[in-house]
Amino acid sequence: MTHQNPPSIIALDGPAASGKSTLGQTLANALGYLFFDTGVLYRAITWIALQQHLNLQDETAVTKLAQDAQIDIRPPSQKDGRAYDVLLGERDVTWDIRDGQVDANVSVVAAYAGVRQALTDQQRRIGMRGKVVMVGRDIGTVVLQEADLKIYLDASAEERAKRRFDEILARGEPAQYKEILHNVIERDRIDSTRAVAPLRPAQDAVIIDSDKMNASQVYELVMGLCK
Ligand code: DC
Repeated sequence: MTHQNPPSIIALDGPAASGKSTLGQTLANALGYLFFDTGVLYRAITWIALQQHLNLQDETAVTKLAQDAQIDIRPPSQKDGRAYDVLLGERDVTWDIRDGQVDANVSVVAAYAGVRQALTDQQRRIGMRGKVVMVGRDIGTVVLQEADLKIYLDASAEERAKRRFDEILARGEPAQYKEILHNVIERDRIDSTRAVAPLRPAQDAVIIDSDKMNASQVYELVMGLCK
């Protein structure tokens, strides 16, 4: 389903660690578009809540955080592997929001309707300007239903856990495959069973199963769809 050639608004959804960020970034670079990784917003709210020792079960308090938070995403200020800076006020939280504590708790925060409402409004405002590759879970189904091209990037939980495991080892950090697999499955479960904006392909999405494809094969396939 392509309305424009090349498509101006590209929605890229899929489960955790399916390669959305890599694909989204390469695609955005090639097209000269903005790359917007919306998971960053949910992660930033989770990180603040943990910092403030907020009870994450307290939906009202977490929602208020999401409504008040000043999250900024800027071009990368450092060459340490980051694709962008994530700022909370003056503080650079680009790597903080990737830590295990945030991974383990972000799905709970992302399931709250009020949190989603606050963050969806911000995403829509940016996405509707066009020339954007927006990556998330509900971009094609909720945030930008009018997207010109919708991709749903899938892969088995085992393959995704293996990729995440290799990534962490490559950074020289310790990793346990079994633990990562468990987290991936648990995040999928929460993300796809929540009442509001659950993870699922949009009806008009192109579904790509990347189990037996490498990153450049996926990229070529999607570039082909853009032409
Ligand atoms: O893509 P990620 O791993 O950075 O996303 C972190 C969490 O945020 C993920 O568990 C689900 C949630 N999320 C969401 O619910 N909707 C989005 N558009 C993006 C992320």
